[in-house]
Amino acid sequence: MTTKITKAIFPVAGLGTRFLPATKSVPKEIMTLVDRPLIQYAIDEAREAGITDFIFVTARGKSALEDYFDRSPELEQKLKAAGKTELLKELRRTDMESGAIAYIRQREARGLGHAVWCARRLIGDEPFAVLLPDDVITGPRGCLAQMVDAYHKTGGNMVATMQVPMSKTENYGIVDIAAENGRLVSVKGMVEKPNIADAPSDLAVIGRYILRPEIMDALGKFNQGAGGEIQLTDAIADQITAGQPVHGYKFEGDRYDCGSKAGFLQATVAFALEREDLRDDFREFLDRVTGLHHAAE
Ligand code: UTP
Repeated sequence: MTTKITKAIFPVAGLGTRFLPATKSVPKEIMTLVDRPLIQYAIDEAREAGITDFIFVTARGKSALEDYFDRSPELEQKLKAAGKTELLKELRRTDMESGAIAYIRQREARGLGHAVWCARRLIGDEPFAVLLPDDVITGPRGCLAQMVDAYHKTGGNMVATMQVPMSKTENYGIVDIAAENGRLVSVKGMVEKPNIADAPSDLAVIGRYILRPEIMDALGKFNQGAGGEIQLTDAIADQITAGQPVHGYKFEGDRYDCGSKAGFLQATVAFALEREDLRDDFREFLDRVTGLHHAAE
């Protein structure tokens, strides 16, 4: 019997340097795809997977993120008075029940692994999920919900994986595959950002994890990895060495790396084309500008 996963950590304390100067004052997670901030997609995905306790690891300059989850009674009143019920409904969808969110501070950006470790006291001795809001994933079912289903069969630790071109392995944690069974991969090792020659496969870890609480001890050793940061990947690799099972899960869906400018733009276009209220005009616009672009070449 596996334990139900009810807690999720959202590490949002990174500096977001790839989006400077915007991220000087706007947290990356508040940047919007069409009209919803990145963080909302991650919250919705976590809820779909049964998460009830949302733990944010934040840092200085992230107060806009905390405000986003507060109620806005004045705004609600105005929308109600104006009969804007659809907007009111949309606004209420962002409400978080009192006590459902906890904010923990990471005092220094020492890496993703360190950010996760900062939440150790709230995690206690339960398995938990980690969602990186930069990775926005669409699909027939939320990525974390797919993983939770698989986890109930495997137990242990689980990471979401996807195939990447070998030329891109140095941007990801890469898994060393022991065996594959459909969407499940049994993992015998993991390397953070290997170059093409050292990459054990083309299967990359992306920002969804289900982890056993023991990982907090490995993270607490503060071993520095790639880029001098405390890497989550290294601590997961330690779990394998310690004899804990780690599975990769090849999720069904598309992932957009919204921590990069190109990924963010691609997601914006894809999400706008999904929207009934925008689709037709937007497609016409895209056809026109791409046509002009080709003509100019
Ligand atoms: P990234 O590697 O994308 O780093 O972090 P970043 O600082 O957000 O962005 P760039 O690379 O400077 O543009 C992956 C995730 O880990 C969190 C980030 O907030 C993001 O969700 N993180 C990273 C922390 O919470 N703390 C850290 O020290 C580092």
